[in-house]
Amino acid sequence: MPQKKKDFLKRTVEHVEITKHNVVPLVEAMAQMSYSARDLHRAAEIADRMVRDKECGIILCLAGSLVNAGLKKIFVDLIRHNMVDAVVSTGANIVDQDFFEGLGFRHYIADERLKLGVDDGTLRELNIDRIYDTLIDEDELRACDDTIQKIADKLEHRPYSSREFIREMGAYLDQKHPKIDGIVLEAYRKDVPIFCPAFSDCSAGFGLVAHQHARGDEPKVSLDSAKDFYELTQLKIKNPVTGLFMLGGGVPKNFAQDIVVAADVLGHDVAMHKYAVQVTVADVRDGALSGSTLKEAHSWGKVDQTYEQMVYGEATVVLPLIAGYVYHKEGWKKRAGKKWSRLLEPAGAAARG
Ligand SMILES: NC(=O)c1ccc[n+]([C@@H]2O[C@H](COP(=O)([O-])OP(=O)(O)OC[C@H]3O[C@@H](n4cnc5c(N)ncnc54)[C@H](O)[C@@H]3O)[C@@H](O)[C@H]2O)c1
Repeated sequence: MPQKKKDFLKRTVEHVEITKHNVVPLVEAMAQMSYSARDLHRAAEIADRMVRDKECGIILCLAGSLVNAGLKKIFVDLIRHNMVDAVVSTGANIVDQDFFEGLGFRHYIADERLKLGVDDGTLRELNIDRIYDTLIDEDELRACDDTIQKIADKLEHRPYSSREFIREMGAYLDQKHPKIDGIVLEAYRKDVPIFCPAFSDCSAGFGLVAHQHARGDEPKVSLDSAKDFYELTQLKIKNPVTGLFMLGGGVPKNFAQDIVVAADVLGHDVAMHKYAVQVTVADVRDGALSGSTLKEAHSWGKVDQTYEQMVYGEATVVLPLIAGYVYHKEGWKKRAGKKWSRLLEPAGAAARG
């Protein structure tokens, strides 16, 4: 009998909750071990120190496919408990995965054999997309694209930073789906700006292409990534002590590191990022950005040397340990969120717009 979509989309990915697992003793024990375990412990200590430094603005950087993989609630908790002041991400994490779930859709666990790729033809026929061992209903993804178009259609037709556009997405979720936890919604409520410098390279791109096509020669919404860079640089100038918590590499890593140089270009002698932690599976051999060390970033004048740590590991394993350690050490209880969105626009502007 031919298989149907529901035969594949049965078990949902569930998001792990750091609040439910006190990993502090485990991470502390790793300090007495070797290799990646000791690096992970040091990274967790630096992340905790960054949270306790009240002057420090914390920038969370996301690449890869993290949100669909069960890590969403960790990012929500970091934002909710004032441990993140800005997010720099790929569009995939923010739109295809987080906003998508914010609309009520889910990601699904693929059976082991699907990882072999032998059923990808069947998946295509059924409009199911695969991310390694995770499945997505492409019809639902199309609904996500359409929602982006709807949001664009309703806005004043002009260029936007991705930060401005994503706040509108947060305002949309706050009105239509206020009970579904997510990064876009939580960041909107906590005045944490989200930047996606390559915003069109995801579901948002399809919605914006459709919007621009429908508008023809009329004025239209467009994305201005230089405005993103200018806005993020303004935050560095206004709050010179900063730290980076980076999952994966890619555009978010470089974009967030580069604001030190951009501030210098604008005539401000700001310090390098004081704290930096990166979790990545890439290594240094190819000379590419994703695996380049934070020591190397120091040679470019971007990251200070004292509190930096690379962890070579996969984020679904490493992040619950680092974030869980910082959460249960409770340094965040003495930290107020910096509400950086308010430095860039009056509070509530998106909802009123
Ligand atoms: N990932 C997707 O499923 C997807 C979907 C739609 C669009 N896109 C777009 O593709 C573009 C490139 O995305 P990217 O920069 O994330 O590229 P990428 O997925 O290649 O990730 C960049 C690097 O981050 C590291 N990394 C990724 N996942 C990791 C993990 N789980 N643990 C540790 N390290 C990890 C790896 O070193 C990798 O080389 C973006 O514009 C994005 O919006 C991606």
